[in-house]
Amino acid sequence: MFHTTLAISALLSITTYAQTSTLCDPLNSTCPPDSALGTTYDETFTAQTVELNPNLWNVTAGSDLIHFTNNGAELAISQSGQSVTAQSTFYIFWGQVEIIMQAASGTGIISTFDLLSDDLDEIDMEIMGGNTSWVESNWYGWGDQTQYNSEYLECDGPQQKMHNYTIVWSQEQIQWIVDGNVSRIVPYAAPHQYPQTPSILKFGIWAGGDATEPEGTIQWAGGKTDWSKGPFTMTVQSIKITDGSTNTSSYAYGDRSGSYNSIQAVAGESTAYKILNKQSTLQSVLQIWKGLSEGAKIGIVCGVSGFFACVIVACTVCCIIQRKKGRAEKAIADKEWDAHTNELMEYRVRMAKGEFAVAHLTHGEKS
Ligand SMILES: *[C@@H]1O[C@H](CO)[C@@H](O)[C@H](O)[C@H]1NC(C)=O
Ligand SMILES: *[C@@H]1O[C@H](CO)[C@@H](O)[C@H](O)[C@H]1NC(C)=O
Ligand SMILES: *[C@@H]1O[C@H](CO)[C@@H](O)[C@H](O)[C@H]1NC(C)=O
Ligand SMILES: *[C@@H]1O[C@H](CO)[C@@H](O)[C@H](O)[C@H]1NC(C)=O
Ligand SMILES: *[C@@H]1O[C@H](CO)[C@@H](O)[C@H](O)[C@H]1NC(C)=O
Ligand SMILES: *[C@@H]1O[C@H](CO)[C@@H](O)[C@H](O)[C@H]1NC(C)=O
Repeated sequence: MFHTTLAISALLSITTYAQTSTLCDPLNSTCPPDSALGTTYDETFTAQTVELNPNLWNVTAGSDLIHFTNNGAELAISQSGQSVTAQSTFYIFWGQVEIIMQAASGTGIISTFDLLSDDLDEIDMEIMGGNTSWVESNWYGWGDQTQYNSEYLECDGPQQKMHNYTIVWSQEQIQWIVDGNVSRIVPYAAPHQYPQTPSILKFGIWAGGDATEPEGTIQWAGGKTDWSKGPFTMTVQSIKITDGSTNTSSYAYGDRSGSYNSIQAVAGESTAYKILNKQSTLQSVLQIWKGLSEGAKIGIVCGVSGFFACVIVACTVCCIIQRKKGRAEKAIADKEWDAHTNELMEYRVRMAKGEFAVAHLTHGEKS
C-alpha cells in the first residue's frame, strides 16, 4: 500500500531523471564495441589515494572538487552550478556494484550512483541530502521517461554515517541491498523494458534543489538548496564492481533489438584488467610514498641524496688517495732514481779513478 501511495505521489510530483542522450545509440546505429571490465574492480579510497585512475574513470564534471582523505573520496560542492560526475571507462554486463558511502546532507543535494547503458537502460540510487530515513531506487529501460519505477528504501541516516549500497543485476532480477537488507527486487518480467545491456557506472553529487533547476526537480530533490550551509560533501569510502563475465575484453551489440540476447562478449583480457593488474605495483609505491610522514620522506630524500653525496665524497677521497698514492709513489721513485743516479755517479767516479779495472776483468774471467 505504501508503494502505491509512493507511486501516485511520484506521478504527481516527480519529474524523471532518465538520461536522455548517448554518444551512439545501438538501437538505431552501428556503434563501436564497449570495453569490458571483465574482472572485479575493488578500490578503497584513503588519504594515500592519488587520483581516480584516468584510465578507469572519466571525471566529466568537478574534477577539482574531489579530495582524498582517510574517510574516502570526498566530493564537495559549495556553490550554484557545481557538480561532480565520474563515469567508468569500462562496462559490465550483469554483475554487482557495491558502494560504501556517506551521502551529503543539505536540502536538495543529491548523492547518486547509477548503471547506464548506451541505449539508455538505467539502474539508479539517489540519496536526497534532506531525507534522513529514505533513499530512492529507480530504473529505466531505453531512457523511456514515461516510466515511474521509483521506490524509496529505508535507510537509517544516510548522511550521518557510511552505508553499504549494493545493486545485484542479473538476467533474472535487480536487487537493491542496503546494509545487507534486500530492500527491493525487480524481476525481469516487470512491466517496461528491463535494463539488460552493458553498462558503465556513474557516480557523483549535484544540487537538484538549486534555484536554477525546474520547480519539479526542486520538489523532487526535497526543496531549495541553501548554499550558505555548504560545502555539501559526499564521501565514497570504497567501490567494488564485479562484471558478470570474466576474461571478456569487450561487449558488442549484435543487432538493434536492445535485447541481452544480442550482446556478444568478446573473449580476452580487457584493457581494465590489464590496467588493474599492472597498476598494483606502481600504485602501491606511490601510495606508500604518499602515506609516509614528512619526516620519513625527508629521511628518504636525504638517504637518496646522501647516497649521491657518498658517491661524490667517495670519488673525491679516492682521487685524493690516488693523488697521494701517486705522490708517494713518485717520491719513492724519485728517491730510487736519486739513489740510482748517485750510485751511478759514484760508480763513474770510481771507474774514472780506475778502481774497477782489474776487479772487472777478474770478475769477467771468472764467469
Ligand atoms: C537514435 O535514437 C536516439 C534516441 O534514442 C535519437 O535521439 C536519435 O536521433 C536517433 N538517431 C537516428 C539516426 O535515428
Ligand atoms: C569522457 O566523457 C565525455 C563525455 O561523455 C566524452 O566526450 C569523452 O570522450 C570521454 N573521455 C574518455 C577518455 O573516455
Ligand atoms: C523522505 O522520503 C519519504 C519517501 O518518499 C517521504 O515519505 C518523506 O516525507 C521524506 N522526508 C523528507 C524529510 O523529505
Ligand atoms: C555490502 O553488502 C553486500 C550485499 O549484502 C555484501 O555482499 C558485501 O559483503 C558488503 N560489503 C561490505 C564491505 O560489508
Ligand atoms: C529491509 O527490507 C525490507 C524489504 O525487503 C523493508 O521492508 C524493510 O524496511 C527493510 N528494513 C530495513 C531496516 O531497512
Ligand atoms: C581468455 O580468452 C582467451 C581468448 O579466447 C583464451 O585464449 C584464454 O585461454 C582465456 N583465458 C582464460 C583464463 O580463460
